[in-house]
Amino acid sequence: MMALDKVFTAEGSPNIALIKYWGKRDERLILPCNSSLSITFDRKAMRTVTSVMFSKRLRKDIFYLDGKKQDLDDKDIKERFAIVEKMRRIAKTDARVAVVSQNYFPTASGLASSASGIATLVYVINKALVLGLSTKEMSIIARQGSGSASRSLLGGVVVWNKGKRHDGKDSFAQQLFKEDYWPELIDNIVVVSTGKKKVPSRAGMRATVNTNPLFKQRASSAQSRLAEIKKAFKAKDISKVAECTIADSNEMHALMLSTIPSIRYLNAASYAIMDAIEELNAMEGKTIAGYTFDAGPNANIITIRKYQGKVTRVLSQLEKRGMISYVKTSGLGEGPRMLPESRSLIKKSMLGR
Ligand code: PMV
Repeated sequence: MMALDKVFTAEGSPNIALIKYWGKRDERLILPCNSSLSITFDRKAMRTVTSVMFSKRLRKDIFYLDGKKQDLDDKDIKERFAIVEKMRRIAKTDARVAVVSQNYFPTASGLASSASGIATLVYVINKALVLGLSTKEMSIIARQGSGSASRSLLGGVVVWNKGKRHDGKDSFAQQLFKEDYWPELIDNIVVVSTGKKKVPSRAGMRATVNTNPLFKQRASSAQSRLAEIKKAFKAKDISKVAECTIADSNEMHALMLSTIPSIRYLNAASYAIMDAIEELNAMEGKTIAGYTFDAGPNANIITIRKYQGKVTRVLSQLEKRGMISYVKTSGLGEGPRMLPESRSLIKKSMLGR
C-alpha cells in the first residue's frame, strides 16, 4: 500500500557519456538513433537529493528545484514532469505530489543535472508509490523524461541500448561493469563555466537530425566505436578507452557545428583543455588521458590513478591562466539509493498550507 503524507528521500548521481547520444528516432518516446555508453559519477563528487510526498490534501503538484519554486506550466518543465503523471497512472492514484530536489553541482550547465534529477525522481517515486518496478522498467520511464537519465539508474559502466521496437520497450540502460570494476579509473570533472546552456539538448538534437546531412553516418560510426570501447573496458586499456572517448566527443561536436544553424557549446577554455590534453598525450608518446564534452563547455578528463598527477599538473596550469573555475574528481559510482526520513528536504512552508 502506498503511503500518503509520508516523505520519501533518495539520492542519485549524474553520468557522463563516453559514446554519446545525440539525435532521436522518436521524439515523443525519446528513442535514440544510436546506443550510448556512460560512467556513473560517485555521489561524493556530484549528487542530487530528491524528496517526494504524495498527498490528497495538496491542491496541486509542487516542485522546488535548488530552493526555487518551479512553474509547472513552463513547457520544458511540464514535458519532463510528465513522467510523474505516468507513474501516478501506473499506481492508479490521483494524489498530488510535492517534489523537492537539490543538485549539489551547477544545474543546466552541461553537467547532466537532468539525468541525475530525473533518475532519482523515478527511483524515489517507485518507492513512494510502492510500484515495485525493476531497474529496466525505471530506466524506460526515466528515458522519457530525458534520454541520458535512463543511464543514471545504474552504477558503474552503463550501456543504453537503442532498441529497435516502435514502442520503446527494448530501449533501456544496462550495467556493463559494476562500480568496483576498475578502482584506478578517475574522471576529472572540469568546470569552466556555470552558466546556463545556450541551446537545450532537445532542440539541438532535433536541428541536427533535420538539417545535417552528416548525421546519416552517425549511427554506424557510434555503433562500431561502442564495440571498440566495450572491448577496451574489458581489457582495462586506458589508452583505447581515452582514444574512443576523444573521438566520440569530437564527432558529436562536429555534428553540432555543422548543424544549420550551427550549434556550438565549446568555448575558448574548452579548446585550451583539448590542446593541453593532446599535448600531454603527445609528450608521453601514448594516450594517457581522454577528454569529453556534453552540451556545454565543461570538460570531463578520464585517466587512471598512475597518470592522475600529470593530468592534475596540466589542469592546474590552466587554472592559473584563469581558464578553469574548479576541478572535481570521481571514480565509478553507484546507482540511486534511499535515504532515511530525517534527510527530507520538504519544509512545511513549501506546501502552501
Ligand atoms: O538526455 P539529454 O536530453 O540531456 O541529452 C543528453 C545529450 C548529451 O549529454 C550531449 C550526450 C549524452 O549521451 O549524455
